[in-house]
Amino acid sequence: MPDEATRAEVVLLMGPPGAGKGTQAAKLATARELHKLSTGDMLRSHVAKGTELGRKAEGIMKAGELVPDDLIIAMVESEIAAMEPVRVLLDGFPRTPGQAAALDALLGRQGVALTAAVALDVEEDELVRRLSGRAADEGRSDDTEEVVRNRMEVYRRQTQPLLDYYAEHNKLLRVNGMGAVDDVFVRVTEVLP
Ligand code: AP5
Ligand code: MG
Repeated sequence: MPDEATRAEVVLLMGPPGAGKGTQAAKLATARELHKLSTGDMLRSHVAKGTELGRKAEGIMKAGELVPDDLIIAMVESEIAAMEPVRVLLDGFPRTPGQAAALDALLGRQGVALTAAVALDVEEDELVRRLSGRAADEGRSDDTEEVVRNRMEVYRRQTQPLLDYYAEHNKLLRVNGMGAVDDVFVRVTEVLP
C-alpha cells in the first residue's frame, strides 16, 4: 500500500470570485500534504516581479478578464510536469474549456486521474460583501466594484459551464461555501474521497 504522501492526488477548487478558493486551498493543501498552485497568486507574483508574463497579464487582470489560455497552460504545465508523485491542489485553474482539456491531456500523459473538482457555492450578496471587505483591507487592484462585477460575469460566461463538464465525468463535488471558514473547511474535507 503506498503511503498517503506518495499517492497521486489532483484536487481542483472552483467557484466565483470571493467564494473562498484561496482561503480553503491553503488549509486543504496543508491538511492533505498537497502542493498548492494558485494561478491568480502566480500571476500576481509575475506582475510584482515585472516578468514578461507579468507584463502581458497585468492589464488583463486589472480589467477582470482572463489571461490567454496558452500563457496559463504553460505556467501550470511546467509545475505539474516536474512533480513526482503528482500531488496538487489547483486554485482558480482550469477556468476555460481549453484549460480543462489541457489539464486532462497533461494528467493523461502523467498517468494520473483527477481526484475531484470541488465547487464552492456562495450567494452573490455574500461574494460582494467579502470582496469589498478585502478591497478595504488589501487593495487588490481588481477588487474595485466595477471590476468585481466584470469578474463575476466572466466567471458565469466562461468558467461556470466547466462545472457541467466535471459533473458529466462524475468528478464534481458541490460544497456550501456560506458561513465560517472553518465550517466550510469541514464540509470540503467531508466530501472529498
Ligand atoms: P484569482 O486570483 O483566481 O481571483 P478570483 O477567482 O477572482 O477569486 P478571488 O481570489 O478573488 O477569490 P477566492 O475564491 O480565492 O476567495 P478568497 O479565499 O480570496 O484570479 C485573478 C485574476 O487572475 C483573474 O481575474 C484573471 O485575470 C487571472 N487568472 C487567474 N487564474 C486564471 C486562469 N486559470 N485563466 C485565466 N486567467 C486567470 O476569499 C475572498 C475574501 O473573502 C478574502 O478576504 C477572505 O478572507 C474572505 N473569506 C473567505 N472565506 C470566507 C468565509 N467563509 N467567510 C467570510 N469571509 C471569507
Ligand atoms: Mg483567490
